[in-house]
Amino acid sequence: MIKVVLLGYMASGKSSVGKIIAERLNLDFIDLDAYIEENEGHSISNIFAEKGEIYFRIKETEYLTELLNSENNFVLSVGGGTPCYANNIQLISEKAQSFYLKASLNTLYNRLKRQRKSRPLIANLKLENLKEFIAKHLFERTSFYEQSIHSINTDDKIINEIVEEIKDKLI
Ligand code: S3P
Repeated sequence: MIKVVLLGYMASGKSSVGKIIAERLNLDFIDLDAYIEENEGHSISNIFAEKGEIYFRIKETEYLTELLNSENNFVLSVGGGTPCYANNIQLISEKAQSFYLKASLNTLYNRLKRQRKSRPLIANLKLENLKEFIAKHLFERTSFYEQSIHSINTDDKIINEIVEEIKDKLI
């Protein structure tokens, strides 16, 4: 059985990289946010707005557990917060080959300042507060991300290089 999980902060490239790895390895690609949206029948933004973040976190853990306990092979990219709640990071490391896609504060800021609207945690932040928010958030979350089995520096690398690095580490 082969399960690959990509994790990291919002906009670290999990989905773009994941799709290509899945294609090259001939595996299904699953984006956990999209999987939640499909199963819940609502967008992530709607779930946050209508049911609140706690509801979202509970569902996120449920769907993650269901996928990781299945007999299926896949490449899964999880949300930026997924490894940081419940015992998700332990479960991920136990059931899958996990990769932390590491990106610097500047890289993340430059990407996220252009794509805030679809992300409920930062959609309402003023641009002048965004960088500090990301810095603090990353500081809180890094210790969870670092518990993944592999860590890949993604700054200044093209997607293909990141994909090859991950493929080289897979067993
Ligand atoms: C979140 C990241 C999002 C999504 C939700 C919460 C987070 O996923 O799960 O908005 O807590 O960082 P992406 O990392 O794919 O944007």
